[in-house]
Amino acid sequence: MACCLMCRKDIKQTIEGEEVPGGNKVKAFSYSELRKATHDFSGANKLGEGGFGSVFRGRLKDATIVAVKVLSAHSKQGIREFFTELTAISDIVHENLITLVGCCAEGPHRILVYNYLENNSLAHTLLGKGYSSIRFNWRVRVKIAVGVAHGLAFLHEEIHPPIIHRDIKASNILLDKDLTPKISDFGLARLLPPNATHVSTRVAGTIGYLAPEYAVRGQVTKKSDIYSFGVLLLEIVSGRCNHNNRLPYEDQFLLERVSSIAILCSPNLCFILRLSCDSSSMARLSFRC
Ligand SMILES: Nc1ncnc2c1ncn2[C@@H]1O[C@H](COP(=O)(O)OP(=O)(O)OP(=O)(O)O)[C@@H](O)[C@H]1O
Ligand SMILES: [Mg+2]
Repeated sequence: MACCLMCRKDIKQTIEGEEVPGGNKVKAFSYSELRKATHDFSGANKLGEGGFGSVFRGRLKDATIVAVKVLSAHSKQGIREFFTELTAISDIVHENLITLVGCCAEGPHRILVYNYLENNSLAHTLLGKGYSSIRFNWRVRVKIAVGVAHGLAFLHEEIHPPIIHRDIKASNILLDKDLTPKISDFGLARLLPPNATHVSTRVAGTIGYLAPEYAVRGQVTKKSDIYSFGVLLLEIVSGRCNHNNRLPYEDQFLLERVSSIAILCSPNLCFILRLSCDSSSMARLSFRC
């Protein structure tokens, strides 16, 4: 353990001969250390791939399991700027936000190292096609919804300047072994060069979750995150992804089904249909978002 920690440089230490200001929690990993940890970034260790690059499961020398995110848009950012941005993110600590363990900025490589979350993402476990043994009863769903709300409120209200996530969605909600939700990818938009585009859309967000004013005008405010959170709540309530092109055309977009769900959740019908109180109140809340 001690040996491993000595292999990493503290962010406060010298990088290219200059001291980088800021926090002291992020460790700088060498590229070879991360290559070894992920078995040369092998396919077997690949957890997934998103707009920023691929994510690999890794085992550090001290046996800690981590998630290693290799940023694909080769940042034009200098090492100093990269570390300065990361320092801002790493100083943020909250139960419902993912923890950044460290990073690597060697040559063209820009890599982020996060805590590994045992239960993958909400997209995978609640909405995914594969089998998941997790039972998402209403208690669990409420815990996840409330946890995400706490994490988002922290980013919006407790950080100065506030962080607008821009990409709240099921795959960015990771679940630990106790199913505590952790918002991931916050602050990442700032790490990409201005000309780099996210694969999903031309703005930094994902189709289906974008607030209309953000999608049309590119206006980003806290409210655009709240809108995406509302879509996420609908997914948590319904247990289905906001877009499913295997369904009949008129059923494909969850938001287009909102009016019929709204009817289901009106108090009287709720009683008649014996829907749980939790499901109806969560659905109503999501419409208000
Ligand atoms: N810390 C982590 N622990 C466990 N699995 C993770 C972790 N981070 C990411 N993953 C897995 O890797 C997948 C890819 O993550 P990534 O953030 O790159 O893409 P995404 O969330 O699908 O899309 P986007 O780039 O738009 O955020 C996630 O869906 C999740 O399954
Ligand atoms: Mg993500």
